[in-house]
Amino acid sequence: MLKGKKIVVGITGSIAAYKIPFLVRLLVKEGSEVRVIMTPVAKDFVTPLTLATLSQHAVIIEPFKAGNGEWNNHVELGQWADAMIFAPVTANTLGKMAHGIADNFVVTAYLSAKCPVFIAPAMDLDMYTHPSTQNNIGILRKFGNLIIEPQIGELASGLSGPGRLEEPYEIIQIIKDHFTRRLDLNKKKILVTAGPTHEKIDPVRFIGNYSTGKMGFSLAAEAAQRGAIVTLITGPTNLIAGNPDIRRIDVESAEEMFQACMREAPTAEIVIMAAAVADYTLKDISPLKIKKGQAPLRIELTPTRDILKEIGAQKKHNQLIVGFALETDHELEHAKKKLRSKNLDYIVVNSLNEPGAGFGLETNKISIMDFSGVVYQGELQDKNAVAAEIMDFIVKNRTVQS
Ligand code: CTP
Repeated sequence: MLKGKKIVVGITGSIAAYKIPFLVRLLVKEGSEVRVIMTPVAKDFVTPLTLATLSQHAVIIEPFKAGNGEWNNHVELGQWADAMIFAPVTANTLGKMAHGIADNFVVTAYLSAKCPVFIAPAMDLDMYTHPSTQNNIGILRKFGNLIIEPQIGELASGLSGPGRLEEPYEIIQIIKDHFTRRLDLNKKKILVTAGPTHEKIDPVRFIGNYSTGKMGFSLAAEAAQRGAIVTLITGPTNLIAGNPDIRRIDVESAEEMFQACMREAPTAEIVIMAAAVADYTLKDISPLKIKKGQAPLRIELTPTRDILKEIGAQKKHNQLIVGFALETDHELEHAKKKLRSKNLDYIVVNSLNEPGAGFGLETNKISIMDFSGVVYQGELQDKNAVAAEIMDFIVKNRTVQS
């Protein structure tokens, strides 16, 4: 699986660097070609000689080769690699990667990557949970990097919690999984919707909802990674689509999303409607800013068009349609009704009562229903992992012919 793959391993100055010789050894055993790069501080934790011996190549640490004024070419390395694995990554390097501070060879190589990038943070508990570190991890995720979450356990400091570098054989498994499922949606045309919609009240106000778009963006990224041709129609969000192959269409209101979906859905083989579309919009939008007064303000709302219902009504024989249902009560009952009334193949059910699931969170827990009832029950996990499990389900169960 990893045979012949060209892999760059980037090491930074964390005690967990002691695990990387094992990682390099395992990669070489798998038949990969490995080049190790290190930050200067990483040398204090693990010797370049060990890594050069195991990888069968010189280790690059400095941007320039000693003595002769030649430089180590990070751009070439970026083009050479089929994957880059940065492990362990310190809080310091996470910050540099997130903000493009390219003051060492490891970060310049990261910025030159043209391949999937895996980042495995490892540090002490307090540093890992600090908002600055979490924010940087969030930024790196948005750029489309694959974060290998640290494990919970005993840390070098004596503290216990998240921060331990994932074990080398698990890292190898994650990379293998990435490469095996990579093309199982090759050239399939997939439409994903994401985010909230904003219904204008006047030029400065709107009615919206708490959706951030995270679930839809993760689904789009996951599908693109597996080779699908992805169109992402999104309501207002500050997320970045990550994968440059995703065709992104930005809309604001439910009506704009309706129009965009009607244009795009007929040619999509799979439609995944993860957007939190407003059910009501303003009957009349005020052209001027509404001034405050003493009397109660009444605004009249009219129902929006149900996009998914319309897509379901026009469903083609080779199309697979997946809806989402976010419920606060009688989850399965409500979801089943939606499945029927919107003519869906599957509906992904989230419950707002589930701790850790819902708007704005990094995690989610879903179940998937078809006409027979619940056909898949997921665990609480990171939204990227949930996107992967939804795609796995679709790949396994899709009846759409190639
Ligand atoms: N949906 C849509 N167009 C709308 C409203 C919802 O396409 N105007 C889609 C959502 O993207 C989701 C599914 O329909 O995939 C279910 O959305 P949800 O808001 O849970 O259900 P509603 O049909 O709006 O019903 P209710 O709000 O009464 O629960």
